[in-house]
Amino acid sequence: MNDLLYVNGGNPLRGDITVRGAKNFVSKAMVAALLGETPSVLRNVPQIRDVAVVRGLLELHGVRVDADDAAGTLHLDPSDVEIAHVADIDAHAGSSRIPILFCGPLLHRLGEAFIPDLGGCRIGDRPINYHLDILRQFGAVVEKRPQGIYLSAPKRLQGTKIALPYPSVGATEQLLLTAVRADGITELAGAAIEPEIMDLINVLQKMGAIISVDTDRVIRIEGVDRLEGYQHTALSDRIEAASWASAALATGGDIYVRGATQPEMTTFLNTFRKVGGEFVVDDEGIRFYHPGGDLRSIQLETDVHPGFMTDWQQPLVVALTQAKGLSIVHETVYENRFGFVDALVGMGATIQVYKECLGGRPCRFGQRNFYHSAVISGPTPLSAADIEVPDLRGGFSHLIAALTAKGTSQVRGISLIDRGYEHFMDKLTALGAEFSRD
Ligand code: EPU
Repeated sequence: MNDLLYVNGGNPLRGDITVRGAKNFVSKAMVAALLGETPSVLRNVPQIRDVAVVRGLLELHGVRVDADDAAGTLHLDPSDVEIAHVADIDAHAGSSRIPILFCGPLLHRLGEAFIPDLGGCRIGDRPINYHLDILRQFGAVVEKRPQGIYLSAPKRLQGTKIALPYPSVGATEQLLLTAVRADGITELAGAAIEPEIMDLINVLQKMGAIISVDTDRVIRIEGVDRLEGYQHTALSDRIEAASWASAALATGGDIYVRGATQPEMTTFLNTFRKVGGEFVVDDEGIRFYHPGGDLRSIQLETDVHPGFMTDWQQPLVVALTQAKGLSIVHETVYENRFGFVDALVGMGATIQVYKECLGGRPCRFGQRNFYHSAVISGPTPLSAADIEVPDLRGGFSHLIAALTAKGTSQVRGISLIDRGYEHFMDKLTALGAEFSRD
């Protein structure tokens, strides 16, 4: 795909689009299929690059994958799981963070696993220390090698008791995917309880796992000897839905997001309403619109579920440049998720970033040298600019900014957006956006 988009902004986005399954669930459910002795079927799968990457990784490990892209269905047959060649896996280095989640399933199936250097968005250090600590506690041996990390399980993995220092989504998934087939009972305190994790638990339970979730972030798993394949329809992508909602707000538009679901978006919807956006929920989706008049500034803090998601922050910040007064946004999940605002400032936004924890309770980054709070003063008209997409969500925010700004912007590096936004150009066309590719 060509990487440069000319966007002629300044017009409200209006129309009807569809979101399918959540990227951050689908990729994990695909990995879970490795644990089954029989094939799995996953539905509502979006055609995005992260799905293609995980598919490639599964195929390297002998999983047969058949896709019906239009229907959004994946058939995953793990009957012939095998060790992949290090060089082949290494070719995937840098393209995704998902390989780390292959460890538990591969250790159960094959007794060993190899993980290349991990990619993902550049939004902080994004270490994997929690993951490796968890795997070691189950009894895996972890060796760092030049191209990546080699793991082996000399004996069957053993259930264990773990307390996470922070409710990490990936580490919770790592634990689930490893504990379900480990010997005995595993107890995780301080677990992440994002809806995508709950849907992964649904999948694992369908496969034969025994998992209970307490109200206090404690997850308890009784290991079983054998898991079967599953049939499951993925929950909707609440990040994509919120991204389009923010685009509607920033451009003064009206977007019906078919497939968007209310229960996973309660916190976003409250915030959307406080900023001055309106929405209508029906059985098939949610209509998000700007009712006219001024948008209102807000004070916002990102957090783990049920808080305001970090991934909702970047698209919403673009809309906040159009709100009246001073908005304060405190990012508490990633230390470095405000890099994208430089481009907005270049387009005329008034945004100042701070190292202090502003407007909320102190977070892990307060005593360290990270610009993780932002003050946005609005409303400011945005003007067209030449901008470079920094990461997936920051990139979508740049796209919203270009659609909000009067004149023609050049947005470079748009192929990054393909990682997590299905057919976003077709959707832009459906919403009446004016753009062309170089
Ligand atoms: N962390 C550690 N050590 C670890 C793992 C995480 O210190 O071993 C820290 C991270 O550095 C971060 C915090 O814990 O400060 C939270 O990270 P988490 O593990 O929860 O994030 P993740 O599993 O790597 C997933 C999503 C992200 C989303 C976060 C938070 C996937 C593939 N990615 O990442 O999605 O922002 O959870 O909800 O599921 C995106 O979709 O654009 C995206 C970045």
